[in-house]
Amino acid sequence: MSYLLVREDREYLVEAGDRLESDLGVLEVPDDVAAGDRLETHIGEEFVVRTPRGPDLFDHLERTGAPMMPRDIGLVVGHTGVAAGDRVLDAGTGTGILAAYLGRLGVDVVTYEQDDEFAEVARENMHTAGVETRVEVRTGDVTDDLGSLSGFDGVTLDTADAADVVARVPDLVVPGGFVAVYSPFVESSRDCVEAAREADLVDVETLETIQRGMEFDDRGSRPSTRGVGHTGYLTFARRSVLE
Ligand SMILES: C[S@@+](CC[C@H](N)C(=O)[O-])C[C@H]1O[C@@H](n2cnc3c(N)ncnc32)[C@H](O)[C@@H]1O
Repeated sequence: MSYLLVREDREYLVEAGDRLESDLGVLEVPDDVAAGDRLETHIGEEFVVRTPRGPDLFDHLERTGAPMMPRDIGLVVGHTGVAAGDRVLDAGTGTGILAAYLGRLGVDVVTYEQDDEFAEVARENMHTAGVETRVEVRTGDVTDDLGSLSGFDGVTLDTADAADVVARVPDLVVPGGFVAVYSPFVESSRDCVEAAREADLVDVETLETIQRGMEFDDRGSRPSTRGVGHTGYLTFARRSVLE
């Protein structure tokens, strides 16, 4: 279980018993630390303790592969209806942001990461996120294990070879189960759509994620002119119940 130490100018993600050293002094995090506590460094600089939520984990977990953005995770949750009690197969784990969000929702996740070191970091990240009992990080190429995996409520994919897994979704999920694929390039989305159609999946759709922030100041209100707001493409499909 981790905690966020917050003050106006900065935040730190820590665990009970940690010793935090910074230019603001040394802070010993008590073993019985709790949200709402106020802690001081040895030179009297104060932090307030808060429980981290998904966006805090996005900001502070150790990164390996580029994590999915909260906005894309929101679309996955909204379009699949994934919920507490579901079992989800995820690949690749990467930093584990999507897996951590799902775990915090009460979803049981089996997630595959082919890079040994990334998998080790992801396990530590799941511990930091407090979801290590819900999210099982397996080291290996998910495509090697497809023959022994079944009975999931859904599959979430963020890999270059996602289309190979989409082709096997009828064997991986229960009738009505879903697959959601995040692709940075539209070519991979097309491959996934073709694989989904070939596998007789239904409700196949691809969405581009574009988000514009709004700015409010004394002169008026308008969309932010910074950045394009594009993240990537999400492809969704379901196994039919009419088989
Ligand atoms: C973009 S990252 C995933 C980020 C993750 N969705 C998150 O929210 O943090 C892609 C990861 O997938 C892993 N990967 C790629 N192909 C894989 C495969 N076939 N099986 C397991 N892991 C794979 C890569 O090593 C990489 O770490």
